[in-house]
Amino acid sequence: VKRKILICGGGNGAHCLSALAASRENLDVNVLTLFQDEAERWTKLLEDNDLKISVTYNDGNESEIHSKPSIITKDPAKAVEGVDIVFLVVPAFAHAQYFTTMTPYLQPNTLIVGLPGQAGFEFQCRSMLGKKASTCTIASLESLPWACRILEFGKHVQILGFKESLGMSFLTGSECNLSFPVVETVQEILGEKPKIQVIQNYIAVNLMAKSIIHPPLLYGKWGDWDGTPVPEKPLFYQGVDDRQAELLSKVSDEVLATAKELAKLRNGCDMSEVIHIFDWYKIYYKDQVSDKSSLMMAMRTNKAYDGLVHPMTSTEDGKFVPDFTYRYISEDVPFGLVVMKGIAEIAGVETPTIDTIIAWAQKKLDKEYIVGWKLTGKDIASARAPQSYGLHTIDELFNM
Ligand code: NAI
Repeated sequence: VKRKILICGGGNGAHCLSALAASRENLDVNVLTLFQDEAERWTKLLEDNDLKISVTYNDGNESEIHSKPSIITKDPAKAVEGVDIVFLVVPAFAHAQYFTTMTPYLQPNTLIVGLPGQAGFEFQCRSMLGKKASTCTIASLESLPWACRILEFGKHVQILGFKESLGMSFLTGSECNLSFPVVETVQEILGEKPKIQVIQNYIAVNLMAKSIIHPPLLYGKWGDWDGTPVPEKPLFYQGVDDRQAELLSKVSDEVLATAKELAKLRNGCDMSEVIHIFDWYKIYYKDQVSDKSSLMMAMRTNKAYDGLVHPMTSTEDGKFVPDFTYRYISEDVPFGLVVMKGIAEIAGVETPTIDTIIAWAQKKLDKEYIVGWKLTGKDIASARAPQSYGLHTIDELFNM
């Protein structure tokens, strides 16, 4: 059978998935991009050309794939028509716009996949789809399957590496009857790598999100900063000091304590995939990290992080100041740390380190999520905690 899928987005990941999926014979691929004039520009660029991916496989082999999606549009009616599966491949702050635009056109028995979902994806999707949510299945992958970047917008994208495996959870709506199996179908679309690992509990995927990494490192570096511009952009990972590593480790401890408490409160619920960030580095980057003696050293000696610097903007005299609007805060706090905090609050677990970091970051974002140690700030609705959608109890959390 030929299956019709929709890819939402126009960035690195959306280019990759569009080209990969369109190259498969049994898939008909639509693309919906709502950002600026991306749809128009992309359509024009592909009039006489195919979309090209240059792939470097993990064994060093290289290949090129040429293909073309059927339509690229900003019109949701056209994009959604006849589609079985919708992939959202945009940063988390852009998800809401796609939910709003697509919902009127969604047919029952659609699979909606967050690639990646990022923390709070299911809460937001359920809430924004309204009555239609129960007729859909909502899946979330823990990250993007590839390290990838656009070389030339609309025309050429590069895959620098495939993840070996990737966790995915899904919530089947009470009135949803998909005509295809979720895991096998998503796997077929992605290809052989990464191997999808099903995670039974969607809360575990939320607590596994790697959005916990950037905010403590930023707070550790800039929390006491006096505002004086610095002569160069500091290294983000290779420059990690004891205090930053300790902050990250404590955030991870608090997330882990939340997972353990939930497992206790919901007898039998499996949270075993939620592991400490130091353990995660040792497993996930086992070949890239040369010194595994501490979390600090693991981060400082991770080859995958070579040369990455703090997000900075330059001043008139050629110096630098931190850019607190960058995704490391604007995505990773409202769509990351605040979600973990919300789950911890419901589990009754105290999170002093997470609270301190959110309190600092929200000032930089000019928002108020947390007041003291409670998520009762006036801007909580613009984040993705369970509380942002009126979920306040363990039962509400688990019976979504
Ligand atoms: P990207 O930065 O390439 O996304 C940019 C696209 O997002 C734009 O082309 C536009 O379509 C949309 N967009 C941007 N600003 C928007 C706005 N204000 N309103 C509406 N739409 C807007 O993102 P990328 O690299 O594709 O990543 C997608 C997700 O995957 C992110 O959450 C990222 O953190 C994650 N990720 C990316 C990796 C990579 O190698 N690129 C690796 C691992 C995770």
